[in-house]
Amino acid sequence: MSSPANNPDERVPQHVAVIMDGNGRWARGRGMPRQAGHRAGVKAARQIVEACGRRGVRVLSLFAFSSENWKRPQQEVGMLMKLMVEALDREVDELDRQGVQLRFIGDRALLTPVVRERMSRAEGRTRDNHGLILVVALSYGGRWDITAAARQIAAEAAAGSLDPESVNEALIAGRLCLADLPDPDLLIRTGGEFRISNFLLWNLAYAELYFTDVLWPAFDDNELDKALDFYARRERRFGRTPEQALESAR
Ligand code: IPE
Ligand code: IPE
Ligand code: MG
Repeated sequence: MSSPANNPDERVPQHVAVIMDGNGRWARGRGMPRQAGHRAGVKAARQIVEACGRRGVRVLSLFAFSSENWKRPQQEVGMLMKLMVEALDREVDELDRQGVQLRFIGDRALLTPVVRERMSRAEGRTRDNHGLILVVALSYGGRWDITAAARQIAAEAAAGSLDPESVNEALIAGRLCLADLPDPDLLIRTGGEFRISNFLLWNLAYAELYFTDVLWPAFDDNELDKALDFYARRERRFGRTPEQALESAR
């Protein structure tokens, strides 16, 4: 059988995407306010960044705040933004030292100037690093991403710089936030829900999907290894027959 496990180079996913869900329930289970769950969630994220780096993952995309999360109570939204600024102030030096390249995707127009400034500063600071690429999705939605690409394509066509006949999958992919990165190989969702919640809709087309009941603050190296083991046992066929997949894995 063709599986990533048969090919050492493919055993480790190049790109892992994570929907970090369950912070609120983790806190409630401990009789703590939701905000304590979010703080614990930041710690878990920090650990997983390092663990992915050690395991040879090239790109890690973390869903931190969705387009729809703006609907949460203002107090929680404010707290989450403050937490992001604090985490950047505390962690960017060390991430930079570890060679991590930090990038943000999402609708920045909705963020406050303070958050935007910290994001650009972190990106500028780590731009030339060659280690793990850490993509943080903040104010991000897959539909927003595709819509922005469509708007740009329409504008180019209207201006006459793009022939509508030349619009193909590669052209659309090239205008999405993750244009220069490989698609996620593995999507992990913690917190027990079986849904995508508007994460990287286009890019996840052929990702292997791993769902766990573990709440995000409790997701540690050991849980990551379970997800990576699950991935290593998958047979990725991309629409082909098992025999063809075996042939192309050779
Ligand atoms: C995920 O945890 C973090 C964000 C969406 C910002 P939740 O806050 O969604 O936690 P639950 O799902 O309520 O437990
Ligand atoms: C998904 O979690 C978004 C993030 C992890 C940032 P949600 O808690 O917002 O997802 P739903 O609302 O349960 O689908
Ligand atoms: Mg949730």
